[in-house]
Amino acid sequence: MNTILYPQPALRQPSHIEPCVDMLGRPLTDLRISVIDQCNFRCTYCMPAELYPSDYPFLPSSERLSFAQIETMARAFVRLGVNKIRITGGEPLLRKNLEQLIERLAKLTTPDGRAVSIALTTNGSLLAAKARSLRDAGLERVTVSLDSLDNGIFQRMNGVDFPVEKVLHGIEVAQAVGLTPVKVNMVVQKGVNDSQIVPLARHFRHTGVILRLIEFMDVGGIGAWSRTHVVTSETARALIAAEFPLVSLGEGKPVSHETASRYRYLDGGGEVGFISSVSQPFCGDCSRVRVSSDGKLFTCLFAQDGLDLRPRLDLAQGAQGLESLLRQHWQRRGDRYSEVRGALAQLGGRKQYPTVRMSLVGG
Ligand SMILES: C[S@@+](CC[C@H](N)C(=O)[O-])C[C@H]1O[C@@H](n2cnc3c(N)ncnc32)[C@H](O)[C@@H]1O
Ligand code: SF4
Repeated sequence: MNTILYPQPALRQPSHIEPCVDMLGRPLTDLRISVIDQCNFRCTYCMPAELYPSDYPFLPSSERLSFAQIETMARAFVRLGVNKIRITGGEPLLRKNLEQLIERLAKLTTPDGRAVSIALTTNGSLLAAKARSLRDAGLERVTVSLDSLDNGIFQRMNGVDFPVEKVLHGIEVAQAVGLTPVKVNMVVQKGVNDSQIVPLARHFRHTGVILRLIEFMDVGGIGAWSRTHVVTSETARALIAAEFPLVSLGEGKPVSHETASRYRYLDGGGEVGFISSVSQPFCGDCSRVRVSSDGKLFTCLFAQDGLDLRPRLDLAQGAQGLESLLRQHWQRRGDRYSEVRGALAQLGGRKQYPTVRMSLVGG
């Protein structure tokens, strides 16, 4: 049951709150919340079936943050500068009554009175059925993961024989109800789905959908990562540009605080993005914080340990205490794991040390 744990803060908030900046000068603007660690897919690069069998000890629902706890936490983050919230997982659409959480989060406003943007990342399997109710609850945009247009490849990669057509249908419904612009994330693995780069680009040109190609990362305890499996953004971009010429929207670099380097098709076919987490890690501009489904705060996807927020969320000491804890934690942040790991990987080529599983901390 979702109970209100804190007194709600006064409706009027001061319009000038000191910006929360970490030791490397990075402001805190984005919050990613994993609402569930379970998933109905077994993507080979994220939750391979051999490591995540049906009896895998996922979190019991009693250990997940409740909607009231998530709202309290999000409210505190928003007061510190967060203006974008992304709901993720595991598969977030498996969390029951997710619309109720979105409704709560969509009511949050920044200290200067602006709405907070609420987005969601999903594998798309349940999107067609839920897109309208999510939009009605206040969701603005969705990102859908889709690694191939070819059913054989897609089904091998998602590990549960889920068909491409259903994900494509989910994307269409999301567009139709206005969860736009829909973004599609494709994780590219050499020899697995790199043949699908150009077909996916072709498919989504002139549709308003923004395809984003993501370099395969060594996250979350998947043992099989090697740099030799990575298709760099540079390679993916060259493949697409050979067929559909591209123009950079940001001198080939991610626009401030964005993860993707954005390009547009020269012929007006729309936009495509490249996320170079391995070949060009972008820690210097990272404004994101992540909270796992069991309430741990991570300032990096590659962190090994998180700050447990649950004691703060369960003690009725008011949002003020929580806020100063979060502020101090961010201000002490000096991590740049991705860049450091990148340098280490250049030396050895293989995974160097363990990380938290992606489905718990949220991708
Ligand atoms: C962990 S998933 C959670 C949300 C949802 N289940 C989905 O698949 O969109 C979030 C994103 O992380 C990406 N991801 C997972 N494992 C990855 C890896 N090893 N390298 C790069 N991206 C990965 C997924 O492709 C997805 O776009
Ligand atoms: S990438 Fe998303 S859909 Fe695939 S296993 Fe991970 S959480 Fe599930």
